[in-house]
Formats: sequence, structure tokens, C-alpha cells
Amino acid sequence: MAALPLTYYGDDLLRTIAEPVKKVSNDIRKLIALMFETCAAEKGIGLAAPQVGVNKQIIVLDLSCYDIEPFCLINPVIKRRFGAIETASEGCLSLPGLFMEVARHQSVVVAGRDSKGRFNLLEASDLLARAIQHEVDHLTGRLFIDLVEDKIQLANELAHLESKLAEIRLTQAKELQQGGVITATNPTVAGVL
Ligand code: NI
Repeated sequence: MAALPLTYYGDDLLRTIAEPVKKVSNDIRKLIALMFETCAAEKGIGLAAPQVGVNKQIIVLDLSCYDIEPFCLINPVIKRRFGAIETASEGCLSLPGLFMEVARHQSVVVAGRDSKGRFNLLEASDLLARAIQHEVDHLTGRLFIDLVEDKIQLANELAHLESKLAEIRLTQAKELQQGGVITATNPTVAGVL
């Protein structure tokens, strides 16, 4: 299976409210498998469907490097956010190379369906809770940079990102012309989402 091409900052899909999944069909399961492939190929710890150009409410989390079994959530809803507000560095596969401090609740309870359509309720803390909040935000068109408090630093970082994205688009265009596989490298701190 091949990884899917990513959508990057500036793509309207990343600012669009994703559609709920009506039926967990084989096509949806195939998409989820490809999302896991893409997440692994990009060395991410989480990915939302709009990041691979699909306007559906699906997220995958892969924190296997932290001994957490990878899982997906379809139509996820955060039922509760609790615990301390913690600030930590966050990154996103759609904003390659940009890492900034973001404050989020330490813990969440999230509801959603798995790839078999079964309803799950999950309580998560720390990095997993952060990752879930980040991915669920993607489904409402929200990006982690919206939560960054230091707007001046953010403006600087976004200017850098724009030049990096111009390079990536050029590489993608060349690879498409050559019929090659699209690849991208992303640095990983605690993990990109
Ligand atoms: Ni992200």
C-alpha cells in the first residue's frame, strides 16, 4: 500500500468542517488503512482525513513508539476535557517543520466508532490527549496555530513555512511529472500530528 499525498497549510480543506461518516464501509476501512500507512511513512503520531484530502470525520492515532496500540476514531466527539491546562510544543504534518507551544487540557474523554463500526468511549491523558484534541480540531477546520498565543513569533514561523511549502510543492510537481511516489520528510520532536 502506498502512502497518500498530504494536504498542506493553505489548502481550503484544512479550514473546512468535515462530513460525518454515515456507514463504516469497506471503502472507509481501506481509507483508514491508507491513513495509518501515511502517518507511519511521514513519521507522524496522528493524522486526520482532511490532511490526506478527504473531507470526512476520521482520525488515526499511532503512538506505538510510546507503547500505545494504534487506533482510529470515526466521527469522534470530545465529551469532556479535564485536568490541568498544560503547555507543550506541537507540530503538524500539514505545517512541516513548524513547532510551537500550545496550551491544552491534560485529559479528555472521547467517543467515536472504530473501523468495525463499534462505539468506543476512551479516556486519555498527556500526549495521547493532546494528540486527540489536535486531530479532532482538524475535523472542524481548526489548526494548532490558532491556539498559539505568541502571534508575533507565529507570523515569523508562518513566513518560514511559506517558503518551505513552495519547495515542497515544487518537489511534488516534479515527482508527479516523473510518476514517482510523493515523499516528504518531517522532523519529529515529541511527534507530529
Ligand atoms: Ni495536524
